[in-house]
Amino acid sequence: MDKYAVVGNPVSHSLSPQIHRLFAEQTNQNIDYQALEFAEDSFEQQVLQLIESGFKGINVTVPFKERAWAITDILSPRAKDAGAVNTVIFQDDGLLAGDNTDGIGLTRDMITNNHILIQHRKILVLGAGGAVRGILGPLLAQKPDLLTIANRTIEKAQDLVHQFSENLNDNTELQHCSFEDSGKQKYDLIINGTSAGLTNEVPAIPDEILGINSICYDMMYNITQPTAFVQWAIDRGSLRQFDGLGMLVEQAAEAFFIWRGVRPETGPVISQLRQQPVDL
Ligand code: ATR
Repeated sequence: MDKYAVVGNPVSHSLSPQIHRLFAEQTNQNIDYQALEFAEDSFEQQVLQLIESGFKGINVTVPFKERAWAITDILSPRAKDAGAVNTVIFQDDGLLAGDNTDGIGLTRDMITNNHILIQHRKILVLGAGGAVRGILGPLLAQKPDLLTIANRTIEKAQDLVHQFSENLNDNTELQHCSFEDSGKQKYDLIINGTSAGLTNEVPAIPDEILGINSICYDMMYNITQPTAFVQWAIDRGSLRQFDGLGMLVEQAAEAFFIWRGVRPETGPVISQLRQQPVDL
């Protein structure tokens, strides 16, 4: 049985083992997938131990995605852009190949699962940390008319705009602003990529960003109740709002495909996770 794991700290709450078990059942793949908590000071050594124990690959979550990026020998273009790795293949030749499936997970959940249009739309992304860096490439590839990055620390938004302006297509305007200034414009799609939800907070954004047809998407998820940002959107009458459970399942599906060469169906897994919160 091929062994895989998600490594992070903390990781005990991770839904990844359950998601990969459901994928494996559905596609008749014989895999073992565990959640392993790694100590902050020994991530690299512990990865080596997994390789020695015969693991075939790992998913990497907070706070190790940048360190995983640093230890991989081969990086996919999307991992290079993201500056972070969430999927590692321990290759037979001993090399480590790193990929990042977060961005494709987000755009698949938006476009395929929820029929959200990105092309020609005006998009506001809240946050400028690692999570946002991972999604900008795939979002820009969809050619929105405007993508604004708003962040509490404005310099970080400015840096991301600088980095992603290099290969920008001609039809997309990429800009940054403060939370306060984001209200000067209405947006079709507002994506929360901040970690404010961890403390049940919402970034200090003005209501004016919402138009009558605005859609809100929180990259954080909560299967038992709306996240703080989803609740913010509901309270202000946004047209539709989503949390990041679909993104989580889609990024896992892409990792499963990278490892196993088989693409699982994600819809039934998303439904099952939503309907069975107590059994997790
Ligand atoms: P992650 O990997 O989750 O992106 P990170 O790199 O630490 O974590 O980035 C966290 C992001 O959430 C940052 O954009 C941070 O804003 P700052 O750059 O100003 O620190 C944002 N953030 C965290 N808590 C927030 C809050 N309460 N309100 C608004 N933004 C917040």
